[in-house]
Amino acid sequence: MLDVAILISGQGSNLQALIEACEEPDFPARIVVVISNNPDSYGLQHARKAGLPTAVINHRDFEDRETFENAIDEELKNHKAKFICLAGFMRILEARFVNRWKDRILNIHPSLLPAFKGLHTQERALEAGVRFTGCTVHIVRPEMDDGPIILQAAVAVDPEDTAENLSEKVLRLEHIIYPEALKLMAMGRVSISGNKAIIEKATYHKGGLISPEIL
Ligand code: GAR
Repeated sequence: MLDVAILISGQGSNLQALIEACEEPDFPARIVVVISNNPDSYGLQHARKAGLPTAVINHRDFEDRETFENAIDEELKNHKAKFICLAGFMRILEARFVNRWKDRILNIHPSLLPAFKGLHTQERALEAGVRFTGCTVHIVRPEMDDGPIILQAAVAVDPEDTAENLSEKVLRLEHIIYPEALKLMAMGRVSISGNKAIIEKATYHKGGLISPEIL
């Protein structure tokens, strides 16, 4: 059983998807703590409703990133977390922290990486006129939105899509692939080779999923 900490900043819909997955009887991971840097994060309510330990570590209370990240580390240690899922955690983690947790942090990003790193991904996807967009679960490396890709899911962009409804479509796929990626990691079915992740006996659409409505 893999003991996982979830780090959030906002509404926490990915957290909720992970909570539900971890409640399944045979799921190989469990959530030991939910940490938010934002005291008003709605995700904290999901965690409390599920009876999970929560902690607020507000970056504004710290003089620099190092002391903020040390406080996160301390909390992770207190709960004996062995793995971290960033679920809409909107702070950049420095190399020192990321390297301490090498290959033990997952992130979800609302684009088909390496395209559209950073913020406002759907606005930029529409601006670029791409025909497909989607989401990526990847291992975290010190460079922002970079690292070995575990799973991706794609959705077609319709001419009438707005950034808002595209975000909703992508979010629905995020809720499918994030628990699936965590499961693969927890089962030890992912090995990292350089900047690539190799999934042993990949059955999950061989690492990708196309939104069912366009099949
Ligand atoms: C999600 O779309 C996630 O991919 C994105 O923030 C949203 C959080 O939603 N993360 C990033 O942009 C990180 N670079 P949630 O709080 O409902 O899970």
